[in-house]
This record gives sequence, C-alpha cells and structure tokens, in this order.
Amino acid sequence: MRLFVAAELPPEMIEALSETSALLRSCVQGRFVGPDLFHVTLAFLGEVPYGEVSRAAAALERACVPHAPFVTTLGELGTFGRARSAVLWQGFAAGHAAWRTLAACVRGALDEESIRYDGKGFLPHVTLMRRADVSAGALPMPCVETGAVDTVTLFSSDLSGQRPRYEALERISLR
Ligand code: 2AM
Repeated sequence: MRLFVAAELPPEMIEALSETSALLRSCVQGRFVGPDLFHVTLAFLGEVPYGEVSRAAAALERACVPHAPFVTTLGELGTFGRARSAVLWQGFAAGHAAWRTLAACVRGALDEESIRYDGKGFLPHVTLMRRADVSAGALPMPCVETGAVDTVTLFSSDLSGQRPRYEALERISLR
C-alpha cells in the first residue's frame, strides 16, 4: 500500500485554500488538486507491506500523544520544480515551530519502528496544483485564514484512477 501521514485542516482553511485555487484558475495552467484532497504531508512512506500498516498506525498514535492542537495561519504561494511544470503550493505564515515539532515526532516514531519514509526536509505546505506553468511569473495574492490543526491521519493513496484517491486508515485527534 502507498501510504503517507498528513495533517488535515479545518473547514475555514480549506475554504480559503479553495478561494486561492479559484484565483489561480484565471492565470495559471496545470492540474488542480481538488479541495477534498488538500492536506499537509508530515511524512511520505511510499509503498509499505500490508502487514506493516498497523505498526505504522500505532507509531502514529504514540507520536501524537504529547501534541496539543495548535493554531496556524496560511501564508504565501511557493513552487517546487521547473517553472513550466511546477508543484504550486500555499505555505504558512505562522505556526512553523509547531509544524516542525509535529513532523519531527511523527518521523521519530516511524524511525523507532524502522518504518522508512522520504527523508527530504519538511516544509509545511498545501499543494494546490501540479504541472503548473508558472513561467509567466506573476501569481495572485493568496487568501489567508487562521485555524486550529487538530487531526493527524494515516492515508493510503491510490494513483490508479484519473485522480488520486486518498483513504483515511487511521485518524488521530490531538488533545
Ligand atoms: P505534497 O505534499 O507536496 O503535495 C501523497 O502523494 C502526498 O505525499 C502528496 O501530498 C505529496 O506531495 C507527498 N509526498 C511527499 N514526498 C513524496 C514523494 N517522494 N513522492 C510522492 N509524494 C510525496
């Protein structure tokens, strides 16, 4: 199974991200991520043998025990990759320390279980577009919103269809 761990965002932040996405539609070509798929990836595990899924879920539960919900604020737009085929995302203007702590705990718990994940540095962001052509340069001012992050989820991801399908295998509430 293809797995990743992500924070889900509250409805008011999903709404603001959808509004940013609507602004982008008028000026950037590419593939838009549906609002139902917006999330912040904390660790990307990739293919995991079926038998390891429950171990990953248990590690995640442990990782989240010390974490209270935290408040964060959406920030600027950014890109990864080439200007004609970029990943276009919205980042965060506040809450960075809490994001980093949460990602480090999740990754630390996976390390303890020897469950592998993509070790690229963590930059909290929500992907809005893939294969975006941002070569023209100008991007709109994004919509921003503040909200509380209180859910960390182990998702499976199925890329076999026209659009990705994510299924929540385990949802953990921060308290
Ligand atoms: P993203 O966080 O930049 O959007 C499921 O594929 C999620 O895991 C996506 O949100 C994706 O990118 C993230 N991800 C992180 N590292 C990845 C990798 N090496 N391959 C695919 N997806 C990855």
